[in-house]
Amino acid sequence: MSREIRIAPSILSADFGHLADEIAAVEAAGADWIHVDVMDGHFVPNITLGPVVVEAARRATDLPLDVHLMIEGPERYVGDFVKAGASTVGVHVETCPHLHRTVAQIRESGARACVVLNPATPVEMVRPVLADVDQVLVMSVDPGFGGQRFIEAVLPKIAELRRWIDAGGRDVDLEVDGGIAAGTVGRAAAAGANVFVAGNAVFTAADYAEAIGTLRAEAVAAA
Ligand code: DX5
Ligand code: ZN
Repeated sequence: MSREIRIAPSILSADFGHLADEIAAVEAAGADWIHVDVMDGHFVPNITLGPVVVEAARRATDLPLDVHLMIEGPERYVGDFVKAGASTVGVHVETCPHLHRTVAQIRESGARACVVLNPATPVEMVRPVLADVDQVLVMSVDPGFGGQRFIEAVLPKIAELRRWIDAGGRDVDLEVDGGIAAGTVGRAAAAGANVFVAGNAVFTAADYAEAIGTLRAEAVAAA
């Protein structure tokens, strides 16, 4: 069972005036994926970006684009984000009353399907679709903003998902997002996560390569 460690800088914390340069810089610094946070001002109290910015990111790199939809009715926009270049589309279970249908729609559109859980959402919510997804994302902050504090209470949820994924025998990536930095990345890796989103920990660092290298080393040591 592959447990490849991946570091996915979140462009939410990048300088949007120089987005292509920022993406090129984290790619050169060793990023594995680029994480793109889409917020609608309804599901979360912030507004960020749409498909045109994903298209611009697609032109800036060949790395996989991990698109995290924090929007109500995400099924309305899945096709647009895949056309724009999303490699993975993540939808929150809190926004999807017809979760199997939305997961199938993402895959039929040609992207990897990810289901996302807020910190207070029980892990049981994803169990019915676990055999149908490519990735599960456990939020370790309430989504909406970068730079928030890691919520420790999500660690048992990561551990439970890791047990289910291993028992299922399929290669499902287990991602964690929010407050990932030196100190928290190792705890999330020890619990069983293998993909780590980091906004502030990368983009506020003076040296992106050093920041990514530090996160990766701690995750590898703890996994
Ligand atoms: C939070 C977003 C995250 C955020 C992470 O709503 O989904 O991806 O950018 O930022 P940090 O790593 O600063 O907590
Ligand atoms: Zn995110």
